[in-house]
Amino acid sequence: MAPLRTAAAFAAVVLAAHVQATEVPLPPCLDPFQPFVYSGCFQETSNTQLLPYRSPSTPDNMTVEECVAECKGNGYRYAGLVYYGVCYCGQTVNGPQVDETQCNLPCKGNETETCGGNGIFSVYSDPTFLPVEDVTIEDYHALGCWTDDSSMGRALVYRQDQVASASLTTKSCLQACRDGGYPFAGTEFGGECYCGVVIGNDTYTAPAEDCSIPCNGDSTEICGGRGRLNLFVAHELQSLEPCGYEPPVSSSTTTASTSTTTPPPETSTTVTVTTTTKATTTTSSVCTTTTVIPPTCEYKCGKWCSSPLPDWDDVKTCKHAWSNCAVQVASCFKGAGWPDVLDCFDFGAWCGDVATYCDSNPRGGCFKGDFWGKKPPKPGHGNPPKTVTVTTACPTTTATKTTTTTKATTATTTPTQCPIPTPTNICIQPSSKLYNYGPGHPVGGIALPIVTCNDLAADWPAYPFKGYTDPDSRRCKKYPRNQCTNACADACREQYEDCVDVYAQGCKTKPTGWWVRGRGVAAEERGERGMDFSPVQRRTLLGWGDDYTGAVVKCRAQYADCLSENRGVTGAGKCPKFGGW
Ligand SMILES: *[C@@H]1O[C@H](CO)[C@@H](O)[C@H](O)[C@H]1NC(C)=O
Ligand SMILES: *[C@@H]1O[C@H](CO)[C@@H](O)[C@H](O)[C@H]1NC(C)=O
Ligand SMILES: *[C@@H]1O[C@H](CO)[C@@H](O)[C@H](O)[C@H]1NC(C)=O
Repeated sequence: MAPLRTAAAFAAVVLAAHVQATEVPLPPCLDPFQPFVYSGCFQETSNTQLLPYRSPSTPDNMTVEECVAECKGNGYRYAGLVYYGVCYCGQTVNGPQVDETQCNLPCKGNETETCGGNGIFSVYSDPTFLPVEDVTIEDYHALGCWTDDSSMGRALVYRQDQVASASLTTKSCLQACRDGGYPFAGTEFGGECYCGVVIGNDTYTAPAEDCSIPCNGDSTEICGGRGRLNLFVAHELQSLEPCGYEPPVSSSTTTASTSTTTPPPETSTTVTVTTTTKATTTTSSVCTTTTVIPPTCEYKCGKWCSSPLPDWDDVKTCKHAWSNCAVQVASCFKGAGWPDVLDCFDFGAWCGDVATYCDSNPRGGCFKGDFWGKKPPKPGHGNPPKTVTVTTACPTTTATKTTTTTKATTATTTPTQCPIPTPTNICIQPSSKLYNYGPGHPVGGIALPIVTCNDLAADWPAYPFKGYTDPDSRRCKKYPRNQCTNACADACREQYEDCVDVYAQGCKTKPTGWWVRGRGVAAEERGERGMDFSPVQRRTLLGWGDDYTGAVVKCRAQYADCLSENRGVTGAGKCPKFGGW
């Protein structure tokens, strides 16, 4: 848990002149959550809102618990109660701290509690946020172009009027949102800057061309469009334990498991490629070999690149390649970024194609190049392995003239990584009849990241388990034997985050109306490729039927189940010896 330097997050300097926001309220958080911490008594100064979000609940029954639950449910960091129980929430506290004696009014809902004073707020803070100072504008990443023209309200409710429109740049907007503690930021129409804690209910991704208005302060950048936002998010400014989060049960030494290996320097074998066609094959001192050079980005989904599959030449090594592929799927969901992350479903299917290929006993030999020829990734989503002919000096001992086409494998192999564990998850995908998820059909089709045996021989004795959430196995989190349960809890959390970021986001983004139910679905079912479906459309047409709230509810339910289901998973008897799984 991060140090709770919450007091330092109070913005003493009053910059943010927020207009009253019209925000669709989310329900109070009913799940157990870490209690808010009392932060003190604060005064609202004229023309400034101490906390911008006003709870719709009547003050008549307001208690500290109720107000805090509403702020938690809406994703805010601070809760404040004023004048017998009017409840407000916000990301920063925009006013000076005053003496405790000024908070002297009882709450209407519980007279033993204090609800501020007249213009004076009793403020509580959620300890599950990182301090704002630990976050920089580099932590925001671009989500692309989004709509902001709904009759139901703004995509991001807090307009930053203090940021001069005439000199607006992406940076100046991100800085304003970061200073306000807002995880979402957006620029619009060349000169407008908005921030938010959540994205508005009726906001969707838009074609990139819709965002084409240069920033007033820098004509080389784009700042949205008419009714269109360039949207950014910094997850570091969201709660680490949002409503619905269940803490993993753990032994006292949870931090011990967070050690990750730094990859050793790549063993770069210098390959001399002669572009001139081998003119000297007659001399016995020169040999040519065919080398398969793995591409740096073999399969690409947005910001994510797979680690190239090991080459194969028979069924057994083909199955290894499939395992290697399957354990990378979770990392794709983690790293690709919205909306390209939807292509990770294709990557998962492509791994399945490898398995099918291995079993198909292809005529003419089972090897990677053949598979690529038959099942290339979608155009623009990968680079095939390159086969080059290399002319080198022959080994002095055995200069066999006949070995002109020896197949050598990769230039950058990690020799200790040979046995690839079968991608069978030690952790359990939970089931629910009510929400219709279970093994083989997790919410949104997003599988629980695989936790299985560590594939690095050097690591294995101390850390037999590994959570495969990075394409480079050396960067994956590894776990000692007594922390298998934590590995599963981490996997559950990763699945939950992907569920919200991918499935719920997709449900929010889905197109609505007659088009989906009519022509669109029918065409998709007929397998027509004529219409150009976006990845979101393809997923939502194929059964992503929830709305955003419903999707989040499912993700949360699955997460809670996942944690409790895996409490008993100790890994006993699993991965008993290296390579012997
Ligand atoms: C307030 O609480 C009282 C008693 O607990 C209850 O009868 C009443 O319906 C509540 N009012 C509101 C608006 O929730
Ligand atoms: C009123 O608040 C006090 C102090 O937080 C708490 O102990 C008590 O249970 C509350 N009473 C009710 C009826 O909620
Ligand atoms: C979104 O808007 C619809 C229609 O007004 C409403 O029914 C729904 O509850 C809203 N969802 C959220 C999360 O606010």
